[in-house]
Amino acid sequence: MTRTVRTTTPALRHLVETGLIEASLRVIADGQAPSGAFVASPTFATYDYSWFRDGAFIADAMSRHGRHGEAEAFHRWCAGIVADRRDRIADLVARARRGDLPAPEDHLRTRYTVEGREADGFWENFQLDGYGTWLWALREHHRRTGRPLEVPVSVIDSLVEYLATFADEPSYDWWEEHLEHRHVSTMVCIWAGLDAMASWEDVPPDVRERAAAAAAGIRDRVEADGVVDGSLVKWLGSTAVDASLVACIVPLGFLDVDHPIALRTIERIEEELAPAGVHRYLDDVYYGGGQWILLAAFLAWYHVRAGNDERVEELLTWIAGTADADGNLPEQVADGMLHPDHLARWEAKWGPSASPLLWSHAMLLSVVADLMETPSR
Ligand code: BGC
Repeated sequence: MTRTVRTTTPALRHLVETGLIEASLRVIADGQAPSGAFVASPTFATYDYSWFRDGAFIADAMSRHGRHGEAEAFHRWCAGIVADRRDRIADLVARARRGDLPAPEDHLRTRYTVEGREADGFWENFQLDGYGTWLWALREHHRRTGRPLEVPVSVIDSLVEYLATFADEPSYDWWEEHLEHRHVSTMVCIWAGLDAMASWEDVPPDVRERAAAAAAGIRDRVEADGVVDGSLVKWLGSTAVDASLVACIVPLGFLDVDHPIALRTIERIEEELAPAGVHRYLDDVYYGGGQWILLAAFLAWYHVRAGNDERVEELLTWIAGTADADGNLPEQVADGMLHPDHLARWEAKWGPSASPLLWSHAMLLSVVADLMETPSR
């Protein structure tokens, strides 16, 4: 089989010609505060914060495009957030060990102001995926650039302890919902962070060992309880799929692209959730349950690695078609909503849905970078 690096495809050419790649880099750079934090969306008040989840994937995309300064500024910001909370983490872990399980609101926050403050008021804060994904993105950046570890080892040690202790607790998922469940995507993000630390030579051996043991435990649990009829499922005990599960395969690598469970998971997501763009999950009512740009990009990224060039082209073309005249990509589009009767309620609450969303731009950038690096099959 000939393996050639794809320098261009019709969709890539279109993205270059319409300036969407440049626009994406600009939207992200403009959305980075002097602190290093990335705002989730500069125009949607509810998203005027920095999320570890969004930010980790955004920093990863910038790193893939050689924007190392921006990526590292974000990593330093995250390290500072965790460093300031090491005592709190130690306390949470100690409580869990003596059987006094902390309440969700006692845990680290999901989002912070870009200055690094904890936001006032209620938010669905107990979400561990972002902290795991951050460790994964940090390791990927160092692997890619060969630059020395800039984050204090004490921060990694603390976070490994925290994630290992609470990985098997129910928590809010990627979509900040369903606190009562153990979510497969969340567990795999934690696994990815721990697995990344376990194999990093710069991390002290005892921390690596603890990370490896915890990662192995998560793998066993997901393989035992997170697979139904050969497919990953949304949470342990569910039979539904969620499009965030694509990330478990690409880029996080919990399953190889051609593992039978990966193939069945993708098949279900394609059949049930991907009419053109990609829905989050069938019961999604947020802004009517539209089609998400970042999820179309995750799926395209899977297909890059699986060598399904035609599907990559379709998804990239769909994504390009969602940009406005200034090159802004939204969070979701209202075409073919799953539950259109819910749209008005959300618009009344928070205004029109977010655009631009930095995470949407980041995922497009990651697919583009990977497409140009991955030999065709
Ligand atoms: C999504 C989260 C995301 C946040 C900020 C929420 O609506 O459910 O996944 O982190 O927006 O973009």
